[in-house]
Amino acid sequence: MTDTGRAPSAPQRFRLDRRAFSDDQILAEEISRVFRPTWQLLGFATELPDIGDYVLRRLVDDGVIVVRNEEGGISVLLNSCSHRGTQLCRATFGNSAHFRCSYHGWTYANDGRLVGVPSVRKNYPANFEKSEFDLRRARAEIYRGFIFATWSEDAPPLPEYLGEFRWYLDAMLDLTGGEWEVYGPPQRSAVKGNWKISTDNFAGDGYHMGTTHQAAFEQSIYGSSLADGTLGVGELDLMAVNISTPQGHAVRAGYVIEKGDPRLPERSPDEVAYLGYPREEWPRFTESQTYEQMQFNSHCEVVHGTVFPNAAFLSVSHDHAVGRTDDPLTKYFVWRTHTPLDARHTECTYWTLVPTSMSEEWKQRSYAFQARSQSAGGILFEMDDFENFARIDAAISGSVADTAPADLSLGLGLGTPLPDFPGPGAAEHLTLSEHNQRGYYRRWSELMETPGVN
Ligand code: FES
Ligand code: FE
Repeated sequence: MTDTGRAPSAPQRFRLDRRAFSDDQILAEEISRVFRPTWQLLGFATELPDIGDYVLRRLVDDGVIVVRNEEGGISVLLNSCSHRGTQLCRATFGNSAHFRCSYHGWTYANDGRLVGVPSVRKNYPANFEKSEFDLRRARAEIYRGFIFATWSEDAPPLPEYLGEFRWYLDAMLDLTGGEWEVYGPPQRSAVKGNWKISTDNFAGDGYHMGTTHQAAFEQSIYGSSLADGTLGVGELDLMAVNISTPQGHAVRAGYVIEKGDPRLPERSPDEVAYLGYPREEWPRFTESQTYEQMQFNSHCEVVHGTVFPNAAFLSVSHDHAVGRTDDPLTKYFVWRTHTPLDARHTECTYWTLVPTSMSEEWKQRSYAFQARSQSAGGILFEMDDFENFARIDAAISGSVADTAPADLSLGLGLGTPLPDFPGPGAAEHLTLSEHNQRGYYRRWSELMETPGVN
């Protein structure tokens, strides 16, 4: 990565070697340097309500069983028999007190202990100790229902790892009273393109909206009903705030503002607007938040970002689904992970979160909006994005193409600092900027120990 300047005080370039998006040797280094010391999102506690509930997930390049064990805690177990390595559990979700290997029948409790070995007394040496063959357990921690895991013994505790991002996660969850649940089964898909391409897009790429997602704007699904004057502003504009944290996490929040007045005014409880939620809920929402959270959430039309290294989220309102123009403006909140299958293929997993307190009818509508736009079958957004991501993959790995750098200098040095922004971190305003992507790749480069990082 290089950063050269038009003037010494005003760097004008931020570039990244394109081989980072296509080279399996770089992925091998990422697995040990970027993924191994960090926490990865694996799922949500509400997916596992009962003792014995489990789901299969990938923890970087290993399959794991995420299970609610007999003590009610969450175990993350390597899904590979300690005898000869057979995949232990094959059903992607279910409920079980034990996992029995299909090859020779070794059986494990759902906390990973080896509890059954056929013929152990007769045919194994007297000093055979079952406890030496328990399943490998990853460290697992839950923050507000989000299940994270890591193989590292040295990673900091999860709240510390989340750092300043924790404030933003709390604010997004507290908006509606605090309790959220996964709605419907999560989706998975395998897509072309390096895992970082989709991740950095979620960190802060507002730039692609006008071209990649032009069709969505033309169909007026993006908040056209906001222009009805009820927000207390005249002609509307969108003001984006970018926050990048030292841990590489990112938040980009877009606020509805008065056109030509690029400020975020303080809102009193009487002036708030929680876009995409029924108006009768707004007073209840205000009561559940701190004053600062209220300022962050009010008039926020879209918020998206990244939890380093490979989790991303988006909360946005749509006016209607394609072909249905009578739906009210409705928010959805999708979380996703982008896990490398190899340097050029990625597994995406999608979860829709809904506030537990909302009506079933609202939850269904929120889920439907998310599924139709940001999911494996998302006909407007996801398909548009992955078409471009696959085209990046198709075009960057030739012997000439991979010597050209990827450029990330949009908005470099041009953002307006917002010292009074209610959340922590260095917030800056510039609606079209690669500020957050630069923060993401700075952290990536620190861990990869790439020379020449700015
Ligand atoms: Fe699992 Fe033999 S490989 S019991
Ligand atoms: Fe997009």
